[in-house]
Amino acid sequence: MTNDIFGALHRRDLLSLLGGVAALSALPRQSRAQAAGSVAALKLGFIGSGREGGALGTLFAKKGHPVMFSSRHPENLKELIASAGPSATAGTVEEAVAFGDVIVLVVPYTAVEQIGKEHGKALAGKRLLLDVSNPIARRDGEDFVKQVNEMGGAGLATAKFIPGAKVVRGFNAIGSGKLEPGAAKADGKLGVPIAGDDKGAVELAEALIRQIGFEPVLVGGLAMGKYLVPGTPLGGEHSPEELKQIAATLKA
Ligand SMILES: NC(=O)c1ccc[n+]([C@@H]2O[C@H](COP(=O)([O-])OP(=O)(O)OC[C@H]3O[C@@H](n4cnc5c(N)ncnc54)[C@H](OP(=O)(O)O)[C@@H]3O)[C@@H](O)[C@H]2O)c1
Repeated sequence: MTNDIFGALHRRDLLSLLGGVAALSALPRQSRAQAAGSVAALKLGFIGSGREGGALGTLFAKKGHPVMFSSRHPENLKELIASAGPSATAGTVEEAVAFGDVIVLVVPYTAVEQIGKEHGKALAGKRLLLDVSNPIARRDGEDFVKQVNEMGGAGLATAKFIPGAKVVRGFNAIGSGKLEPGAAKADGKLGVPIAGDDKGAVELAEALIRQIGFEPVLVGGLAMGKYLVPGTPLGGEHSPEELKQIAATLKA
């Protein structure tokens, strides 16, 4: 897995970057630096714009990514988009799905199957579906969590509910309070464990995570996604090194 952000980009991105560089040369020096820092400025569509989705999307919007937050009641997102800045807009779930090059799924896990039924075809065409959602017994019910576990746990279950989607799990146990601009461990970067099977999607997730100031740690394929929930050893605040050590003790 490359550490080089350009290594994470596909030819399409590089071409768009080159086009962007030509356009950048026409901009004043300061604007040029800001735009170049946005990498390819991929469009991000958020399904779920509550505590976690709102905080995560704001971080990306502040980095210059066009972000569309969504809700079944988008009129309720005015405050969020005002605070996220000029790169943020609001829409319906359908509009956010159509908008995003990358989709970030941040909903109660009980909604994932329905979202797959309604938007699965479009979601399967996206380069990355970043799955931040968790099955939580106290919220979703013991029976539901048991069903997800029988499907292989969160991760494999998401891939079954949304067939063909390039699912990468990430940020699942990083509380919304930690998603403040510049939030990091006092002694270094906060690690974000991720799990995914699609190499291109994993690399894209890694590049995006680094861009907002965290360090991604690939702990394995989607089967390891079951550990990316609060309350497992990988949950909470860890340095990248600690995450690697913990992940080495876990089995898919
Ligand atoms: N909060 C955290 O610190 C945190 C940290 C890591 C992971 N997570 C995980 O992230 C997910 C969201 O948590 P949250 O705390 O952000 O919850 P939240 O504040 O209650 O927000 C839930 C969001 O999901 C949307 N939603 C619910 N059902 C939906 C459906 N059927 N179709 C489309 N959108 C739907 C809601 O949109 P509407 O406006 O349409 O209701 C709302 O925007 C959960 O799975 C949670 O475990 C949370």
